[in-house]
Amino acid sequence: MTKYPSMDKEIFLPAEQFFEQTKPTGLTFDDISLATRYSDVLPSDANLGTQLSENISLNLPILSSDMDTVTESEMAIAMALCGGLGILHYNMSKRQQLKEVTRVKYHVHGLIQDPITITADKLIGDVLGLIDQKGFQFRTFPIVEDNGKLLGLLPGRVVKHRYRSRKVTDGMLARNEVYTVKQTDIGEDPIQTADRFFSEHMGIHKLLVVDDNDKLCGLYTLSDIERIIGEAGNHLKPARDHNFRLLCGAAVSIPRLEDGKINQDELIQHVGEMVQQGLNLVAVSTAHGHTQGVGDATKVLRKEFANLTIMAGNVTSGEGVEFLGDCGADIIKVGQGPGSICTTRIVAGVGIPQMSALYAASCKAKKKGLSIVADGGITKSGDIVKALTLTDGVICGSLLAGCKEAPGRIIEIEGKYYKQYRGMGSLEAMRDGSAARYGHSAKDVGAKSAAEGIEALKEVAGSVTETINLLAGGIRSGMGYLGASNLSELKSNARYVRVTPAGQKESSPHDVIEIKNSEFSRS
Ligand code: XMP
Repeated sequence: MTKYPSMDKEIFLPAEQFFEQTKPTGLTFDDISLATRYSDVLPSDANLGTQLSENISLNLPILSSDMDTVTESEMAIAMALCGGLGILHYNMSKRQQLKEVTRVKYHVHGLIQDPITITADKLIGDVLGLIDQKGFQFRTFPIVEDNGKLLGLLPGRVVKHRYRSRKVTDGMLARNEVYTVKQTDIGEDPIQTADRFFSEHMGIHKLLVVDDNDKLCGLYTLSDIERIIGEAGNHLKPARDHNFRLLCGAAVSIPRLEDGKINQDELIQHVGEMVQQGLNLVAVSTAHGHTQGVGDATKVLRKEFANLTIMAGNVTSGEGVEFLGDCGADIIKVGQGPGSICTTRIVAGVGIPQMSALYAASCKAKKKGLSIVADGGITKSGDIVKALTLTDGVICGSLLAGCKEAPGRIIEIEGKYYKQYRGMGSLEAMRDGSAARYGHSAKDVGAKSAAEGIEALKEVAGSVTETINLLAGGIRSGMGYLGASNLSELKSNARYVRVTPAGQKESSPHDVIEIKNSEFSRS
């Protein structure tokens, strides 16, 4: 046991005492610092895993924001591969959002359950055309009869321009030459089954799955299996569901009927279609979550989708957390106005500095057994560590908007490269679909409504993996300093101290000429 000298106990306070003594002042990340604690934890051994709901465990407590300049399928795939979660935005048609969910859920997951097939009447030239048209990265295709029965396998080595006028059946491996496994023999661990098969069958790269009637119902490829097995050694492990598919979240707006009531059928149908594709989390995402509308939409979803993880928000109070939890939400988003592109506090005069909001929310969440995530205002990994002392995860917008996986083109201005980053409450974003998030109807945008966000640029920041590695490294350091081997210990070990403006100045590099800055050390 550590000996904790009594003066320490009076200066470095646990959350309850610290926020009790500083109330009612609203504090944010830079207003506080964390005290070091006795530690036998090496940063590299710290476990960043977090359980957000019964069905969602992440290996990294970071989610990408449901903003139209942050999260589409490419970002969601990258986030899940790093162990976190992407929440797809909804400034797109429902059909497009469904497609985005499908892209994430069908990204390399070991067993491809709906492989692309061709029929025996095709020529090799037709296959080349298909590859070109769809942009497929593979050239091997199962050949099936019209009823789906397996006929053979067209190997990539014959899919060549010189054979373009030959029939696919001329170059295929016949049914008796193709390796298959019965669907019923796959067992509980499909990856292990395939891994064993490929080890036992040297030089074979494809294993087809068939049902009792020899109909094709799946495909394993050696490269996918090797990628998944290889992930076991990574320090950031992908976040997958029980079918080995990447986890995926999506935000929804609340559709309304002419009379202003929630259009329940539309909401249920759209979410239902996404759930059928494997969606793991739906977020009822608005600027003000402690409202009848968000509560009712959450209740509708909870009643219809008993096992789906529901996130709702945003709130900044214990009452808001309790309200949304009682309506059926599992995870509550906390944050009003801290975001880098937010102007809510300026426009509406409303919002709570983030650490105080997180503390108020966390007290209720603990009592109600709910998870909370800190949404907005995170500019460096140290902010994440501070947020995680009170929450189960953080949502990042600005830190990820410059990554190559974020939507949007790269713009060059005077030799520097940027990506667009805009608030969902900016006039342009609201015109593109997010007006309801701020309680406006699309036709009011610019007339009866004031923008609560700005349009901005972010300097291009490399890949999500590079960015996340830096952030994860910072979280691990914080955990090492606090002697926390996991996030639950981070919460219990956290001791806070108030920082003055002089202390803030001291916290950043000072009194030197900086020649090389670290991306996340700037405040
Ligand atoms: P960061 O600081 O990571 O914040 O860029 C991202 C979060 O900000 C919220 N958000 C907004 N808040 N007006 C607001 O008041 C806006 O236009 C706006 N757009 C996004 C949102 O919670 C996001 O995750």
